[in-house]
Amino acid sequence: MEEISLLILGAGWTATFLIPLLQSKKITFAATTTTGRPVADVPTIPFKFDPSAPEDEARSAIASLPRARYILITFPLNDTGPAKLLVEAYTATHLTPTSSSSAAAHTLTPFRFIQLGSSGIWQPGSPYQTTAPNTTNTDPWKTRHSPISTTPRSIAETELLSLGGCVLNLSGLWGGSRSPRNWARRVAHTKELLRGKASLHLIHGLDVARALVAIVEGGEGKWETVGRGQRWMVTDGFVYDWWGMVAGWADGEGGEGEEERARWVWELMREEGIKGLPRSVEVLGRGYDGREFWEALGLVPLEGHAS
Ligand SMILES: NC(=O)c1ccc[n+]([C@@H]2O[C@H](COP(=O)([O-])OP(=O)(O)OC[C@H]3O[C@@H](n4cnc5c(N)ncnc54)[C@H](OP(=O)(O)O)[C@@H]3O)[C@@H](O)[C@H]2O)c1
Ligand SMILES: *[C@@H]1O[C@H](CO)[C@@H](O)[C@H](O)[C@H]1NC(C)=O
Ligand SMILES: *[C@@H]1O[C@H](CO)[C@@H](O)[C@H](O)[C@H]1NC(C)=O
Ligand SMILES: *[C@@H]1O[C@H](CO)[C@@H](O)[C@H](O)[C@H]1NC(C)=O
Repeated sequence: MEEISLLILGAGWTATFLIPLLQSKKITFAATTTTGRPVADVPTIPFKFDPSAPEDEARSAIASLPRARYILITFPLNDTGPAKLLVEAYTATHLTPTSSSSAAAHTLTPFRFIQLGSSGIWQPGSPYQTTAPNTTNTDPWKTRHSPISTTPRSIAETELLSLGGCVLNLSGLWGGSRSPRNWARRVAHTKELLRGKASLHLIHGLDVARALVAIVEGGEGKWETVGRGQRWMVTDGFVYDWWGMVAGWADGEGGEGEEERARWVWELMREEGIKGLPRSVEVLGRGYDGREFWEALGLVPLEGHAS
């Protein structure tokens, strides 16, 4: 079996940015969806990972995937077990005599797994992360080294890390069809909802794609420093203030209700004693310090300052 560079398990929204970039860089890849529908004009392989299925079924689905150096998992894995099953079954069924001689099969996989995770606690029904203000917090800045919450997803990520994988904790994804301006309607459809909205962290799909390409192009050296066992916090470097954004979108170009929401912000500023926008990170209560990831890659995000 010929080895490709990257296998995308789950070619969803992120892949609409990643696939064109891979094509322009002439990086070999294959991609899956649960249905086998084409994505970015590329046919995909039908694949659904079901850890609750009988193990031999899960294994044979994994066995039929193409052999790749890097495997990107875009959908969430949950709890202990699935990450190990995926890594072990893929390794066992894709090792060749040459790759197995360089790695003891059951302890170390020569395949490089990257999992897309999330940088936050998710509000029900909304595709972004947001937090309530915490004015008593003395250090509002969080880094990739800050303690993480224990969720089914973070447990699975920790298991993948222990198997030598890499986890990218992505902040709110925007670009193309997803724009924060469109989310404001849901986030702030009442003044009281808006009162509770503090910081927002974002990353553009193009920058996610650039980061992934840099890791894949970086080869062994990059993998050892940036990939293996590393969890990264991925933001565009901005700490956005929901009030600041909503007040900046008053002209109605983003649809109905914008002026009214901006009016609520001005009322809230008076009520809460906020003299100007954006509010400081200390007042917001949480800011993600995402510098390390871009420094390690030697890149800067191209699409900062979301709107
Ligand atoms: N939205 C945000 O703001 C945000 C922020 C931070 C992190 N994230 C996370 O970032 C990751 C990538 O996001 P995205 O928007 O690109 O995801 P997406 O569009 O939902 O794509 C997920 C892909 O995985 C496939 N898939 C789902 N379950 C699967 C399974 N059990 N087995 C095999 N394939 C499966 C889907 O197949 P089909 O195409 O057939 O449905 C789809 O292609 C996600 O984990 C998401 O939770 C999102
Ligand atoms: C993990 O849990 C999420 C949320 O319940 C679910 O959508 C997803 O399909 C689960 N992942 C797998 C691989 O079963
Ligand atoms: C990374 O994501 C996990 C859940 O996927 C979350 O529990 C954890 O707090 C996040 N860590 C950082 C540093 O954002
Ligand atoms: C606010 O920050 C303080 C100090 O770090 C912490 O003890 C408290 O639990 C935080 N409150 C909330 C609601 O997060």
